[in-house]
Amino acid sequence: MHFQVKPSAVHDATVTVPGDKSISHRALMLGSIAEGRTEISGFLNGEDCLATLAAMAAMHVSIEQPTPTDVVIHGGGLEDLHDPGMPLDLGNSGTAMRLMSGLLCGQAFDVALTGDESLSGRPMNRVIVPLSQMGAVIESDDGCPPLRIRGQCELEPIHYDMPVASAQVKSAILLAGLYADGETSVTEPAITRDHTERMLVAMGAAVSSENGRITIQGRPELKGRRIQVPGDLSSAAFVMLAVLLSESADVVIENVGINPTRTGVIDILLSMGADLSLENERKLGEEPVADIRVRSSALKGCAVDPALVSLAIDEFPVLFVAAAAAEGSTTFSGIGELRVKESDRIAAMAAGLRELGIRVDESEDGAVVQGGRFKGGTVQSFGDHRIAMSLAIAGTVADSTVTVLDTDAVATSFPGFTGLFRSMGATIEEAG
Ligand code: S3P
Repeated sequence: MHFQVKPSAVHDATVTVPGDKSISHRALMLGSIAEGRTEISGFLNGEDCLATLAAMAAMHVSIEQPTPTDVVIHGGGLEDLHDPGMPLDLGNSGTAMRLMSGLLCGQAFDVALTGDESLSGRPMNRVIVPLSQMGAVIESDDGCPPLRIRGQCELEPIHYDMPVASAQVKSAILLAGLYADGETSVTEPAITRDHTERMLVAMGAAVSSENGRITIQGRPELKGRRIQVPGDLSSAAFVMLAVLLSESADVVIENVGINPTRTGVIDILLSMGADLSLENERKLGEEPVADIRVRSSALKGCAVDPALVSLAIDEFPVLFVAAAAAEGSTTFSGIGELRVKESDRIAAMAAGLRELGIRVDESEDGAVVQGGRFKGGTVQSFGDHRIAMSLAIAGTVADSTVTVLDTDAVATSFPGFTGLFRSMGATIEEAG
């Protein structure tokens, strides 16, 4: 599948985006090891989360999905996962693979975790090292999936100083900590998304956070609950950018998660001159949400504050497009982690934007993007959902048609992407 994007104007609208991917994964995993009924609404019915759902069901958890966005789990507690009798295929999802490593390394059964070509090249030593210190036994292919996790390992609580800022690593350790007697803690070098901690507390675990150190008490009794998943700010970012770049539009994106560990993209766009505001701020369970109002704006280049990197980690592809459409140059630094995401996102965006006539100077952990005009052309997504969607947004304001190749992966995080943009006036067609 590929996208054909024609220059087209986005008009005024009120829209919603699919549920948050990070929260949907966590709701499935924690609901599966909590006692009793967990009812998830606003679930992201995308391929990544469906891989996690299938994995939990394969471990004999009773899960129903009465509608695409509603999931009901009948959990049996920490000890009620069972041998799936087959490898668990986690598709494209780094979150599923890393969190599941933590969840499964203290179980009574052996289990293998596999993934697609992209996931099979992603670094897993960042979870294998701390989990091994806890007593887990995990074999890998030179630090990459597939992972073979040995059962019947007694886990010991540890303190771990994380060398990389990663919510996935932090969460893996906290999930393993559920199965260790005593206090497990991690220190993070920069603040990362805290959805795991919030959900664990809401389900009854003792988790505290002080000065970058997060501590969990092992073997809690988790209680099933209702989890309302907010719209995914990472998906809303594509809508925000399409509106900002359009001639004259005023759009409200309703019910989007604005957890402060995720809002770096809003701060960066504001510093580029975006007309963005939060309306109707409220809480949805343990997560803050708002309606985001965005209006067309003339963006200016800036030096992106490296302190915001971990708070905007998934939004850099679309921020590269913002930079390319801004007046002047934008400097990104401290973004080396982008090189080990679903693709090497610095290289992928540099290649795509250059193809569209934009100057990008890359370094190992950064890039300088010169603002300009997009010309038409054919660009690669490298099978990465966020690269595909970012380049499609560039196409809406290009001089002529932009074809984005290999866009199937968009279904991992943003089902209905093209339909939503068409409803806002953009001309994005899917072709076989
Ligand atoms: C995620 C954490 C981030 C992010 C990923 C989702 C999560 O990864 O890039 O898309 O749900 O915990 P890292 O924490 O490894 O940076």
